[in-house]
Amino acid sequence: MMLRVLGIFLIGLALQAQAGVTPQFCTDLSGIPETPGVDFTSQIQPIFANNGCETCHGGSGNLYLTPGQSYSNLVSVPASAPVPVNRVEPGNADQSFLFWKVNCDSPGSGSRMPIGGTLSEADQALIRDWINQGALPAGPGAGGANPVPGLGWVGQWLLVLLLLSVGLARARRALLG
Ligand code: HEC
Repeated sequence: MMLRVLGIFLIGLALQAQAGVTPQFCTDLSGIPETPGVDFTSQIQPIFANNGCETCHGGSGNLYLTPGQSYSNLVSVPASAPVPVNRVEPGNADQSFLFWKVNCDSPGSGSRMPIGGTLSEADQALIRDWINQGALPAGPGAGGANPVPGLGWVGQWLLVLLLLSVGLARARRALLG
């Protein structure tokens, strides 16, 4: 009997711990269509500047949302709050503490951000889209330079293979006469 009560108590505790890291009371953004190619510098950083985030996260603590520091403080960095997720998990807004913090009244730990306010749904959705699109530092295309423009990556690999096989054939002829 005692054991059974203890067991139920422990299961309850475990469930509660689980509930503690699940964001709740989140704004439903499903009606807001995805914005393609969200750019961090011109579309995400201004959200931090215009909503007071930089004021509190700009001079102390371990989360700086100021330009030049925000990206490296967010992407693939574990949250300092006791939640089992990174601040930003590239490709997965649902597993990103930053998104929980701006989208939910009970974000798993602490308060909704900004403290004392709420981001517009449009801004919340931009953060969602930026993370889901891979949390890139700048718009797509600004990543790696394309050595042969217009050919695309597949075309370039085919070109490399072609050049290699021509080279091999030549080398064989040279060696075998
Ligand atoms: C009035 C001060 C204040 C403002 C404004 C503010 N924050 Fe915060 N923020 C805090 C405090 C204090 C904490 C730690 C306590 C908590 O999590 O509630 C925190 C925690 C966070 C965390 C969790 C960091 C971690 O790793 O645990 C994120 C993410 C965050 N804030 C993002 C933002 C964003 C984005 C904005 C603007 C939309 C913002 N904050 C505005 C004070 C503020």
